[in-house]
Formats: sequence, C-alpha cells, structure tokens
Amino acid sequence: MIVLGIESSCDETAVAAVRDGRCVLSSRVASQIDRHAVFGGVVPELASRLHMESLVPLTEQALAQAGLTLQDIDAVAVTAMPGLIGALLTGVNYAKGLALGLGVPLVPVHHLRGHAAALYLTETPLAPPFTALIVSGGHSLLCHAEDYVNYRFLGGTRDDAAGEALDKVARTLGLPYPGGAALSKLAQTGDPAAYRFPRAAVEGFPLDMSFSGLKTFAVNLLHNARQKGEDVPLADFCASFEQAVTDALAPRLLLAARETGCTTVACAGGVAANRRLRETLSALCGREGLELFLPPPELCGDNAAMIAAQGFHELRAGRAAGMDLNAFATRDI
Ligand code: KG4
Ligand code: ZN
Repeated sequence: MIVLGIESSCDETAVAAVRDGRCVLSSRVASQIDRHAVFGGVVPELASRLHMESLVPLTEQALAQAGLTLQDIDAVAVTAMPGLIGALLTGVNYAKGLALGLGVPLVPVHHLRGHAAALYLTETPLAPPFTALIVSGGHSLLCHAEDYVNYRFLGGTRDDAAGEALDKVARTLGLPYPGGAALSKLAQTGDPAAYRFPRAAVEGFPLDMSFSGLKTFAVNLLHNARQKGEDVPLADFCASFEQAVTDALAPRLLLAARETGCTTVACAGGVAANRRLRETLSALCGREGLELFLPPPELCGDNAAMIAAQGFHELRAGRAAGMDLNAFATRDI
C-alpha cells in the first residue's frame, strides 16, 4: 500500500510517498524559513499562502522522485492537527481534493503521532508499546503508545514548548530563526555549569513541564548584561541554557517510563535533533536498562514521510475520514 503524506502544520510544506508505513519512496520538504526569518518567527498568514504555492509542485516532485503517478497512490494522509489553523487547512483541503479525485481514502494524522512515526522508518524500527517524549517548536509532551493508534497523554508543558524557548532565546542572541540548532552549535564549546538557570517543576504533576520562566530568565539575563555593558560568554551561556532544557526533558522520560512500566522509550520531534539531549537520554536510558529509540537528525524535523507512515496505521485501524474533515489547532495526542 502506497500512502501519499501531506504536511503543512507550520512553516514546512512537505509531501512524501511511503510504502506499507515503512519504506520511504520519496520525501520532499519545502522550508519557508527564509521567508519568515525577517520577522523573527512564523507569520501564520504568510505560512498558509506559501503552503498553497508549494503543495502542487511538491506533489509532482515527490511522485517523480518515487517513479510513481497519482494513480499509484492508495491513500492520502494529511496532518489535520495540531498546528497553525490556516496552515493546516491548506493541506487538509488539498488532501481532500486529491483523495476525492483519485477515489482513495483520506486519512487525518495527528502531527505529534507523526513525529513518533518517524521512528517506524528507521533501519531498526520502533514498535509499540513505547513511552515517548515528543519535543518540537510548538509542543512538548510525554505519552504512551499502547499500539500504533492508541495514545495516552502522560504530561506536557503548561506554557511554552522547549523549542519555543530555544528559538526565542536564540532570537535574543541575534541568531537567525529558528535558532535551536544554531544555539546548540554555539553551546558545543561552552561550560554547561557556567550559568545556573532555573529548573521548573509543577507541584503534584512531576511529568508536567514549564519553559516560559526559563525563557524569560535567559532573555532578562541577556538584556540586563547588555544594559550594563557586560559581556556574556556566548558558548557558556548557550551550553548552560541547553543543559537546563535537557534537564527539564530527559529525566522526565525516565520518570514516565517508570510510571508506564515500559522498557521501550523514544524521543522525537525537532528538538530531538539536539546533541546534548540525545547524549543525555542515551546515558540515562543505558543506566536504567531502557531501550531508547531516536530518529536520525534528518527525520526529527517536520516531514511528510512520518505523516504517511502514521497514516498507514490510522487507515489500517479504520480511521479514514470523510469529506467533512476539519483541521484543529489543538487536539490531544
Ligand atoms: O518538529 P519541528 O520541526 O517543528 C514543529 O513541529 O514545531 O521542531 C522545530 C523545533 C524548533 O524550535 C527548532 O529550533 C528545534 O526544533 N530544533 C532544535 C535543533 N534542531 C531543531 N533544537 C535544538 N537543537 C537542535 N539541533
Ligand atoms: Zn513538528
């Protein structure tokens, strides 16, 4: 079964063809980053318009790359939630048109399940049940997948996502949007203990997180130093901030695994590309005897192969949608 995946939840338009939820035949991503960078963040209206421009050519490219025609497509899977509502709607409506025209099933996919499904596409694929930490620019949560389509929410951020904190601090440092990767690069030579950033905890909810206080603390530290004309050693600042983000995430995955009793754990989403987080998770999981799955960095960010992979499983579970499918800006995993 060949599923065409469509992703347009934020600032990347992506189309991919995946066979049997496992084998990537083609995967095309058109990043809008350059167009949003001048504004220092994603402009939702602009994102929607750029998705509309890119969806058709990307589909043509994805089909050509896979050596397929539209008639070879058995189902169309599309990110329908969560994300920027206008951006989601462009993909959902495009997918509806394709599915209707081809007479094939239309399958809605939850973006964060999609991130986890990136791990079904690797050489040694993940298989449920697993407990996962999903960290992206817009979301940070812990969940447990009983099987491919039944997820249980375990905890999540009460305010900002980890990626949002990384990006806004990076912006204050003058790094280009999205700054997570650039900040992480600067952190490589720094001392992670040079600055003491706060570690937030939500009383009574050990699996919940908070990043807005950490973000504000870091931004204020930079502004204060600038006002006083003081120098902030960049590498040390970035390394310490990255360490604080890592400390908020990595131990909570272990805590979640203890709660679910699951020895298979995973981390996915854009922030899962972060080296410090990956190394910390590997060390902690090794010590606890947990089997850890991490996507290769190229499958961490938004792409449509992961959407097609999850779509395959949603379809097998009978979760195709009708032409009344809507998009949702927020929706539980
Ligand atoms: O999953 P994703 O591509 O998009 C969303 O669904 O939001 O995640 C994007 C986020 C951004 O915040 C970006 O700065 C962050 O992932 N990111 C990183 C790294 N690469 C991307 N954060 C830290 N270290 C990285 N190497
Ligand atoms: Zn994402």
